[in-house]
Amino acid sequence: MSEQKLFKVTIDNITIDVEPGTSILHAARKIGGDVTPPAMCYYTHLKGSGGKCRTCLVEVAAGSAADPRPMPKLVASCRTNVMDGMVVKNITSPRVLEARAGVVEFLLINHPLDCPICDQAGECHLQDLGYEHGAEGTRYEFTRRTFKKHDLGPYIQLHMTRCILCYRCTYVADQITDKRVHGILDRGDHAEIATYIEQSLDNDFIGNVIDVCPVGALTDRTFRFKNRVWFTKPVDAHCNCDKCSGKVQLWMRGDEVLRVTSRKDEWGEVQVYDGKPGWICNTCRFDRKKASDWVVEGPSNISRHSVISQGHYVGLQTPEETVPKVMHGRNPKLLMDIHDVSGVNRPEVRLSELPGPATSKTFEENK
Ligand code: SF4
Ligand code: FES
Repeated sequence: MSEQKLFKVTIDNITIDVEPGTSILHAARKIGGDVTPPAMCYYTHLKGSGGKCRTCLVEVAAGSAADPRPMPKLVASCRTNVMDGMVVKNITSPRVLEARAGVVEFLLINHPLDCPICDQAGECHLQDLGYEHGAEGTRYEFTRRTFKKHDLGPYIQLHMTRCILCYRCTYVADQITDKRVHGILDRGDHAEIATYIEQSLDNDFIGNVIDVCPVGALTDRTFRFKNRVWFTKPVDAHCNCDKCSGKVQLWMRGDEVLRVTSRKDEWGEVQVYDGKPGWICNTCRFDRKKASDWVVEGPSNISRHSVISQGHYVGLQTPEETVPKVMHGRNPKLLMDIHDVSGVNRPEVRLSELPGPATSKTFEENK
């Protein structure tokens, strides 16, 4: 069998060889780092995703070796395949950076800036995008559209006001559950994610809509307002599950499991095991909330650029204690007496067992 000819593509002056049929986005992911365009709607493991949000726009400065003319308009890198000899500009193109800032401004037209109370804060792709490509203010003067919050069944809450209509959750329901009962209703400014007659999303595997949602529009009702994600300790764990891979990430506080999610790769997409995406079932996600349900493998590898990594150091080397040494073996009293247990979140209060969000009452009653 003859070897497949690889295509040469140059992105931001870095040339790599990729297989024919590779999208510009995937080629850029092979290089990694800042060369990779952000992607808010594309998701490798969901067929048909991409092409909705335009955050991944790039400039094609030369179409191919055979036809080196530039493409007149910026193209969506998630939906455009590379050609042999193609030259692409991402962060080296001022046109791209300006267009991306414009896209972010549009995405934020109706999106509330409620990060301080949003459960997705710290792991929100729109928050990262806003910091990296957004303007410091808005030019929008009109009333933002708002929606009432809906409980979609016992486990998932929809906060449509935050939705950016990326369609990922509808693809999850279509492709990895046995039945889709929600979708995007209406058009244009009225478009919204909804279940037509308030049906609940309770089919198995539907919890994965929470993991793919790039913003805080779909959140886990069993975790909402229980903790900020950067105060939790993410660990990799597994169990013997007959429905899914059983490979998950536990978000712990002490020995309490506050949340269970699938494990993500560096692009924020679910990890692949034996060639298959590691979606997790509802039982693993919502019902196995005891540490004893899981075999903990060790701390999760979190990018050090993420706020979640704060305070979680792997392979920590503590410096030698010098104070007792200079004080002839005596330990310091009062000196540097900083409490090591939070007086606000009382460890004896089991946050994962509360039926709803914790309030000040929860902690007062447990005094
Ligand atoms: S609810 Fe989330 S996943 Fe679904 S379309 Fe909106 S932003 Fe995308
Ligand atoms: S990620 Fe390409 S258009 Fe949204």
